Amino acid sequence: MKLSVFGTGYVGLVSGACFAELGHEVICVDIDEEKIEGLRNGVMPIYEDGLKEIVDRNYANGNLKFTTLPAEGVTESDIIFIAVGTPSDNEGGADLSAVEAVVESIAENINDYKIVVDKSTVPVGTGDWVEEMIEEQKEADYEFDVVSCPEFLREGTAVDDTMNPDRVVIGTESEKAAEVMDELHQDFEAPILHTDRYSAEIIKYAANAFLATKISFINEIANICERTGGNVQEVAKGIGSDHRISDKFLRAGVGFGGACFPKDTKAIVSTAAEHGYDFKIVDSTVEVNEAQKKTLVNKLRQEMSDLEDKKIAVLGLSFKPNTDDMREAPSRTVVKQLLDDGAEVKAYDPVAMEEAEKIFGDSIEYSEDAYDAIDDTEAVILVTEWDEFQNLDLDRVKELLNNSLFIDGRNCYEPEKMKEQGFTYYSVGRKAINVK
Ligand code: UDX
Repeated sequence: MKLSVFGTGYVGLVSGACFAELGHEVICVDIDEEKIEGLRNGVMPIYEDGLKEIVDRNYANGNLKFTTLPAEGVTESDIIFIAVGTPSDNEGGADLSAVEAVVESIAENINDYKIVVDKSTVPVGTGDWVEEMIEEQKEADYEFDVVSCPEFLREGTAVDDTMNPDRVVIGTESEKAAEVMDELHQDFEAPILHTDRYSAEIIKYAANAFLATKISFINEIANICERTGGNVQEVAKGIGSDHRISDKFLRAGVGFGGACFPKDTKAIVSTAAEHGYDFKIVDSTVEVNEAQKKTLVNKLRQEMSDLEDKKIAVLGLSFKPNTDDMREAPSRTVVKQLLDDGAEVKAYDPVAMEEAEKIFGDSIEYSEDAYDAIDDTEAVILVTEWDEFQNLDLDRVKELLNNSLFIDGRNCYEPEKMKEQGFTYYSVGRKAINVK
């Protein structure tokens, strides 16, 4: 089949590459010339396991093409995927200007029956809006259908998630479009859920909001465990072995970040409000998450009443391991709190240093590695659970720290072991060790 994918971000590039790998002819379109030139030369704009190999192979065999010309994408394909960004606007809703630009190109260049598939995360009703815009603006009288087919991939495992989805959601009332979409997805070993377009649009937000709520829920249980006794990991195991709950997304920590959960939770609350509904649970999920990001420095403040001019090590800056993505990363809150208290921050992340520098500039010191960050500081705060932070040489850490204060935002260490090592150790939802 002939496809075009507008937008070469995580969703667009990975989906385009995977469809090409399955034998389809795919044109990836992006207005960013540098990005497109890079992709033609094997330079990936994002790091994802296995992506470069798939892109290079399919670019070489001609299944995958890259262009900055929207007209080429529209005229030379039967199925057009919209996979551009939908960032939060000032009111917490989704900014659809990039989607609008793609729709205008489709209307301008339509030259046959087209299936327009929305893969971007867009508020319910966007499919109607896209349909109306194409109808009003199209320059030739061809038919088209607008389908919602949301994407559920995670950063870091994007290729694998795309190739092996739990389900494929196809939202359309057009039988013709549904048949073509079925054929396009026949090589995926996943159940296909056919539904109306509104439901498909809501499914994407509801899935992310539900997962985010699970995280905020377990973080609140952690906060209760810290006050009552009990270990949140044991509680998560106990409730997670009930299949109706499942043990996934029950890791308590420093709160969720990234490009999706923070944006999508706010967007669904905002959509609900626009329709006169107060979406209390997800509103609270967001509120709990904001508070959770502050808990690590609050623990530090309990031990050190004055942080003025104190050096503090921060380990891990990206919002989760195996990515350099700093969007809505909890480390941003942690660093801000420390700087507001007058502390000096020494930070290290295995891959996000360049991204971090764009955000923190020279307000913090960037270290060579974890030990360099810890050297001559009063306390270490572990924010992101990179593998290398889970296996630190604790004797060395203790030697380098002026004070043996260790605040672990991801429960990477066992409290008993930290006790033996003589640390003052705070983690999340577990007993604090040797505290004042
Ligand atoms: C998420 C969704 O999982 C994916 O389906 C959607 O398409 C995009 O958003 P992603 O943002 O890449 O994917 O990361 P994910 O692995 O889901 O983690 C999101 C955040 O939640 C991270 O900050 C992570 O640290 C946090 N998290 C996740 C927890 O704090 N505890 C958990 O148990 C799981």
